[in-house]
Amino acid sequence: MAKAVSAIMATKKIKARRPTATSIARLTICSLVLSGARWISRETIRWRPEEGNLILVVERGGESAPIVLETAACFMWHSFNAYERQGEIIADFIGYRNPDHFLGENPVASAVMAGRMGAHAFPGEARRYVIDPAARSIRQELVDSGSYEWPRVNELHRCHGYRIGYIAKTRPGEFFWSLVCRIDMQSGRTACYDFGAGVYCSEPVFAPLPGVRYHPDDAEEPGWLMTEVYDSRPRKSYLAVFRAERLADGPVAVVHLSHHVPFSYHGWWSAD
Ligand SMILES: [Fe+2]
Repeated sequence: MAKAVSAIMATKKIKARRPTATSIARLTICSLVLSGARWISRETIRWRPEEGNLILVVERGGESAPIVLETAACFMWHSFNAYERQGEIIADFIGYRNPDHFLGENPVASAVMAGRMGAHAFPGEARRYVIDPAARSIRQELVDSGSYEWPRVNELHRCHGYRIGYIAKTRPGEFFWSLVCRIDMQSGRTACYDFGAGVYCSEPVFAPLPGVRYHPDDAEEPGWLMTEVYDSRPRKSYLAVFRAERLADGPVAVVHLSHHVPFSYHGWWSAD
């Protein structure tokens, strides 16, 4: 796995041909571009979809010129994973046809902090870039059009082939996420658990089972899945723990807190 990782990490070395901040995905295929997050604010970014996305593919050694590919505009915050498969780079992410939840007249990301509802007409969709570095080609596929965010995978598959992604999903019309889901990236099939109205979860974290040899094509993928949950009725949070392969059965353990926790994410499980 050389090229896809480099594409994630090369943004400090490479200048895009049109280096604007119009779309985060113009500069990289993965969210590590947010290492430059101090300049990413709503006031400094404009959404100009007619310019499309620029995708850079850079060899890990950085010795040859990057491959610059253009594709249809798509906004992203977070990626599932990226890996090489038979000469192609597969890069999976949550993409938005329009980031109206973050940019524009009345984005919900800002409005909610003032106690108002805001715009969020375009859902986060599970999307895939298929890049052929030899042919200098890229195509974008829609894996599932559900309203998703917070993609994660079993970290043992990071930068390698994998099949199952873990995500949070909204209820219809909502912006925040009340369902935790697993998605089969081959078939698009999902299995979800709905915490219910007024209860909101965040990024799910997969914890592998000790002693299990995980295979990238395994549709079962046994393990634990954890997500932080805020219940707006008692205004308290809890940690919900699921068996990842049986999400729809509901949590097998709940760790209640005596207080609320602001939405948090990008956690990590370590058995050490
Ligand atoms: Fe993030």
